[in-house]
Amino acid sequence: MKNTVVTFNQAKEKNERITMLTAYDYSMAKLMDNSGINGLLVGDSLGMVCLGYEDTLSVTMEDIIHHTKAVARGAKNSLIVADMPFMSYQTSVYDAVVNAGRLIKEGHAQAIKLEGGLEVCDKIEAIVKASIPVMGHIGLTPQSVNVFGGFKVQGKDESAAKRIIEEAIAIEKAGAFAIVLECVPAKLAKIITDKLTIPTIGIGAGVGCNGQILVYQDMLGMYSDFKPKFVKQYENIGEKINVALTKYIEEVRDGVFPAEEHSFKIDDEIIEKLY
Ligand code: KIV
Repeated sequence: MKNTVVTFNQAKEKNERITMLTAYDYSMAKLMDNSGINGLLVGDSLGMVCLGYEDTLSVTMEDIIHHTKAVARGAKNSLIVADMPFMSYQTSVYDAVVNAGRLIKEGHAQAIKLEGGLEVCDKIEAIVKASIPVMGHIGLTPQSVNVFGGFKVQGKDESAAKRIIEEAIAIEKAGAFAIVLECVPAKLAKIITDKLTIPTIGIGAGVGCNGQILVYQDMLGMYSDFKPKFVKQYENIGEKINVALTKYIEEVRDGVFPAEEHSFKIDDEIIEKLY
């Protein structure tokens, strides 16, 4: 069954946990969709895990649209959420609506996500008024890495914790259908979750959130440049890929691959005429 923003809201009402992962390409999106995941985020994390940047700041609208199109072709039942890249919405309400619209029209996403607290509520309101569902994102917001001075846990002292609660409430009021809480203490995330009627999706925010999201390369052991404490590695696919690659190289060098079953046949009579 197709997951929609309504499914997400009903899940919170029914106390059912929401599952999300990031996705950036057709084949992975298809595998994830078949696994029954509720939502796929084409995150700007693609800048790091797919494009090899040190942070997410260089990701462009074109990058996100390109990858969202691929995910949308692969995923039929998951809710597809596309991330608004750095400087695609901070500049003005107008830019925010136009760029959110591009992610829906050109990327074929069904919702967008943007980072930030009180300063983005006017943008959220305008995007929602244009009939585009918005997922908020507070706590550690990687697009503000230069302000935070690194990828650090947020909301640890009283005033910072109160500010995050205030931001969550304001984002709900602005019309968001869900909100990502990234790298905030588990007990703070639980308080926010209980105060909101919209679902919270945690990443490094404990089990008290209404759902969870991880970057798939992290949970499958495919990205070794940076390993956040909150990641659980469910498989070491990176290691499996290395074993397979080494074997392939060996077999090509030894003439073991391709074998007969990987080759095409032609009549010997024709071959004789070719010499
Ligand atoms: O870009 C991303 O992958 C994200 C998730 C970590 C929530 O924003």
